[in-house]
Amino acid sequence: MSEPTFKMLDGRAAAPFPITPWQPLLVPREEIEREICRLSEMPLPEDGRRATLIVHPSCTDGSMGFAPGIDVTISVLNPGEETRALMRNSNQIEFCIRGSGSVRVGAEEQQLSKWGTLTIPSMQAYSHKNTGDEVWVRLTYSNAPLLRKLAVHWINYADSVVERNIETSSTGLDHSYNRNNAPDRQISDSGARLRGYEFLTDIEVVRNRPLVWPWEAVADMLTMKDGDAKRNIILLYNPATERRNGTTHSFFATVFSHPVGKPVRKVGRGHKHSSVAINYHFTGHGRSIVDGVEIPWRAGDLLLSGPSWSEHAHYYDDEATFVLTIQDHPLHIGMESLIWQERMDGPILNLGSEAGQTGYVGPRMAG
Ligand SMILES: [Fe+2]
Repeated sequence: MSEPTFKMLDGRAAAPFPITPWQPLLVPREEIEREICRLSEMPLPEDGRRATLIVHPSCTDGSMGFAPGIDVTISVLNPGEETRALMRNSNQIEFCIRGSGSVRVGAEEQQLSKWGTLTIPSMQAYSHKNTGDEVWVRLTYSNAPLLRKLAVHWINYADSVVERNIETSSTGLDHSYNRNNAPDRQISDSGARLRGYEFLTDIEVVRNRPLVWPWEAVADMLTMKDGDAKRNIILLYNPATERRNGTTHSFFATVFSHPVGKPVRKVGRGHKHSSVAINYHFTGHGRSIVDGVEIPWRAGDLLLSGPSWSEHAHYYDDEATFVLTIQDHPLHIGMESLIWQERMDGPILNLGSEAGQTGYVGPRMAG
């Protein structure tokens, strides 16, 4: 008999052990600009995709992440160029940093221009076309690294796919067998149930459409002047994510504004959470302190600003500053793993499963 290929490991390997986050990582504006130029000037690839992944040095398993579960891609299209349609089971958030164009997702066509944000839901064919007269540049965030770790990142060209009809399931089967007539029996006072297999395969659909948040609409809710009673941080909410308050099913996107004249925050302790935060600073300058390390940043810099469970705080200089933050917060809510510590001497809360963190005054400003 051949030797078994599996291993038997000491179960104490799963004993309490400190979390080791990836190091924070700054990608300076100059490096991003250099890559945009290189992409724009290289010969057009066969599928039209001029794209570069920014990979963290700690990502050594081939999953190509900027954070363990999030990849960041610089995507460039020259005027008039378009990409071949793709379909993938990862979801995406796109943030336009220069130029404009149209994004076709299924049967829908969306326009995306500077500082606008767009979502591409999973398993819908999508393609991009630069309809402007300058280079179109987007930062794209996706959950592909997590799917690669799970060995299920499905990605294919989809030239012939126009629209998926979410009302029609697979054909050739008797549709009278569905979850509505499957057994569903409660077997304990505390809630345990037994259900038919149909519940696993015929899942209630929540429609997820591609959405756009144009910069003008986002900016309208953000504070632009100290004391104007507007918000300093706003969530780009996709109703398909329901109580998980995401922009996609994996990530939320927020935009933060620090107006000129707002008193500079005193240096103090930060907070920490299991979700990872990636900041893109599109105006202004300031610094972040992550696990005691100070990282200065300015407009155009991308920063892994809140690696998982690292204490972080951000400080803004006296200049108008906007920051896009992407976090894998909804993913963690779905997994019941979103732990959050607002004060280093306070409790660790499991957000979504127990009473959450209240008392945030900052986001309200005066309203
Ligand atoms: Fe944070």
